Parts: sequence; structure tokens; C-alpha cells
Amino acid sequence: MDSHLDIAVIGSGRGSNFQAILSAIDHGRIPRACIRLVVSNNSTAGILEIARDHALPAVHLSQKQFPDEQAFVDALLGVLGEHDVNLIVLAGYMKQLPAQLVRAYKNRIINIHPALLPKFGGQGMYGMHVHEAVIASGEKVSGASVHAVDEEYDHGSILLQRTIPVLPGDTPETLAARVLAVEHQLYPEALRMIAEGEITVGSREVPVQAL
Ligand code: GRF
Repeated sequence: MDSHLDIAVIGSGRGSNFQAILSAIDHGRIPRACIRLVVSNNSTAGILEIARDHALPAVHLSQKQFPDEQAFVDALLGVLGEHDVNLIVLAGYMKQLPAQLVRAYKNRIINIHPALLPKFGGQGMYGMHVHEAVIASGEKVSGASVHAVDEEYDHGSILLQRTIPVLPGDTPETLAARVLAVEHQLYPEALRMIAEGEITVGSREVPVQAL
């Protein structure tokens, strides 16, 4: 990884993780990092609004705008190249990235997942479904995972995890809120560690941090 992180954030929704990363950069907590671009497949996504409020390039790109997948991939690769991106940070992106893009940015794409992978990941495991499954299974611990992105959902190597207890009486909503608060610390911390060379995207080490 180049020592400077030129980041594209790609997301579909409210953008609270993006906001947390942005604040961490603004406060100097992620050295040599810069948000170059924000991309969303959803034109009304909060993540695009946040980007525009900070005068950052904000691009709406959805498969639906293109006649075929190749044209979509070309457009995505084009915009990432134009902004000299060397790290893609997925933050609530609800689609699978095209395989060609994953190959083009091998070991340069990360994601955050609201559970302790490899459990409670994969297709269909998103949003409240994750927390419902954790509670239904009787797990005593949940948390968040930052992982490298490969061609399978939630499958790439785990870069950083932080655990929290599942409390008696937790509902999916209360658990989701506490996990989200952890995500807002963990994602900037993972980026700091990548920027400082403490972790490498694509390595197989799994540092777990308990609160
Ligand atoms: C987070 O819970 C993240 O773990 C998951 O999608 C959600 C995105 O939330 N991948 P936000 O858009 O960052 O607020």
C-alpha cells in the first residue's frame, strides 16, 4: 500500500461511518489520509449529502444508469482513476462490487460488518437481520469487523474486530445501536492502522480488541 491513503468511500445509505472517518481525518487521527471521492448507487443517500456538505466530489453511479455491467464497471473504474484512489472504503454499500473492480483493486478494498465475522455474514446478512440472528442464536458477544473485500460477500480476511457483550434484554435495535457506536471507533482505527503500516489489507492476522 502506498503510504498516502487516497480514499474513495462507497455507500448506499445514511453515511454515519463515513462521517466518523471524516471527523477522524479532520482531527488528525488518521495520518496521510484524504477522502478523494464518495460514490453511491442511491442518489438520495445521506452519504452523498455529507460529501457535498464537505465540498468533496460526490458521484451517483448505479448499475441502472448503464446498459450492461461492463459499462457500469468502466464508469466506476474511470471515476476512481480520475481521483487517483488507492483505497476503497465500503461503508454501508448494499450491492456486491463487480468482480472486475475487486480484481483491479485487489487488497485495496475494505468493508465494515456489524458482527463478528466469519459468523453472521454472507448474503442476506445486512442491517437488522444481522442483530436478529445474533440474538436468536443466544450469542453472549457481538461486535464489529473490518475486513478486506474479495469476490464473496463478507469473506475477505479480517483486519480488525472489537467485541461487545450482548446484554440480557437486548433487542435487535438496542444491540444495533451499541454495535454502530463501536463501528464509529473501529473503522477510523483500522484506517489509522493501515496508514501507519500496523495492518496490511489482505494479511491473515486477526487482531481482536475487547472493550
Ligand atoms: C453499518 O452498520 C455497517 O456495518 C454496514 O452498513 C451500515 C452502514 O451504516 N455495512 P452507515 O451508512 O455507515 O450509517
